[in-house]
Amino acid sequence: MISAEENVILTRVGRGTPMGNLMRQFWIPACLSSELIADGDPTRLMLLGEKLIAFRDTAGRVGIFDHRCPHRCASLFFGRNEEGGIRCAYHGWKFDVDGNCLDQPNVPDKNRYPAGTKAYAYQVTERGGLVFLYMGEKEVAPPLPDLEPTMVDTKDKGIALTQRDCNWLQALEGDVDTSHVGFLHVGKVDGEQIDLNDPARYTVINKDPIINVTETDYGTMYSAQRDADENKEHHRFASFIFPFWVTYPSDMLANNVSANAWVPIDDEHTMIFNIDVYRGTGKDTTLYYRDGTEVPGLSRPLDYRPRTDDWMGRWRPTASRANDYYLDREMQRNGSSYTGIVGITMQDQAIQESMGAIVDRSLEHLASSDRMVMLTRRALLKAAIDYRDTGKLPRIVEEPHLCRDARGGDIVVQKGTDWLDAYENAMNSAVGPLHGLKAAE
Ligand code: FES
Ligand SMILES: [Fe+2]
Repeated sequence: MISAEENVILTRVGRGTPMGNLMRQFWIPACLSSELIADGDPTRLMLLGEKLIAFRDTAGRVGIFDHRCPHRCASLFFGRNEEGGIRCAYHGWKFDVDGNCLDQPNVPDKNRYPAGTKAYAYQVTERGGLVFLYMGEKEVAPPLPDLEPTMVDTKDKGIALTQRDCNWLQALEGDVDTSHVGFLHVGKVDGEQIDLNDPARYTVINKDPIINVTETDYGTMYSAQRDADENKEHHRFASFIFPFWVTYPSDMLANNVSANAWVPIDDEHTMIFNIDVYRGTGKDTTLYYRDGTEVPGLSRPLDYRPRTDDWMGRWRPTASRANDYYLDREMQRNGSSYTGIVGITMQDQAIQESMGAIVDRSLEHLASSDRMVMLTRRALLKAAIDYRDTGKLPRIVEEPHLCRDARGGDIVVQKGTDWLDAYENAMNSAVGPLHGLKAAE
């Protein structure tokens, strides 16, 4: 049971809050590399409740600042991205990507560039198609985590962003709440008709798996355990990696390299960064019946409202609370869909936004099906309080290799195999960027 006070600690991410301070010790995905064009328009970003301006300079380097100019606080959104820096539109002061003041053209005396005049620039790096931001205090940021899907940039890799209008934690919890899949997503799918070679069939047929959980060096992990054919067992694994990553299951573990980052825009809005190395289709994962036809209602290409310059103007789906996510009651009635909402991502969107901007966890009645949700929020709560009270951080901050073997996916093993042994064996024979294929720099 989470108290109202604990819920505040878990969910609030502004500067100075325990969870906000913890998150600022990690690299945070800010946007796609492709969203920032050399000498292109400055872009408004909001992360962890802070209003920021992002731009790419002439040489291709990325700068991300507090949006207020250090001179008299005009927004640098109105600035000019000029040769090698951004120039404030109010009095023409110019700053390079590190925040150094290059020019103060309105200052009459020759005592220009006073010491300490710097834009509030954060440390930035790029990897695998993403721009990462470090909002902590260290002069040298810690290393990027060795997350498989961020380590490569192949032609098949897809990164899809989606804004969700609710708190980051209730969105993340949906990613580790595995038993909802059998209802929200496939509640009306006939599992006996699913392709026999697709282990997701067990997830469709068996609605009440045993949930195994454990804490790890990088966060938490679970398996959903179900009986399989021929005296075998099916496990569906996923891991939570501090502070907001989930390596989710969408294929056999041996070749599934995917993750979601649940990045707080502010306390009530989340940007989902969905990265899939082998299935960059921009659509939801789907299922097939034995006759080769696709199960209807699961896959839907993400379509977005027109992008705006607003702080919340990027990657907003057309399906929204305002149109009830295109809910079709007839589909719900005739059994072609459990929800009447098309697309796995939009089904999750509807449900998680329906809980309110920040769910009141003191009202919940959790069950054994929620063991991973409970363990993960307890781990987060402990990490936030430890950092607040002692300055101690999860090891993954300074030891990026710890999450190398955090992967989601399905396996089928002999009945009675220990679930963690089964995981280790599967990872040892897995393929992917860190398991046989060369990782990108
Ligand atoms: S406020 Fe930016 S130059 Fe004066
Ligand atoms: Fe879901």
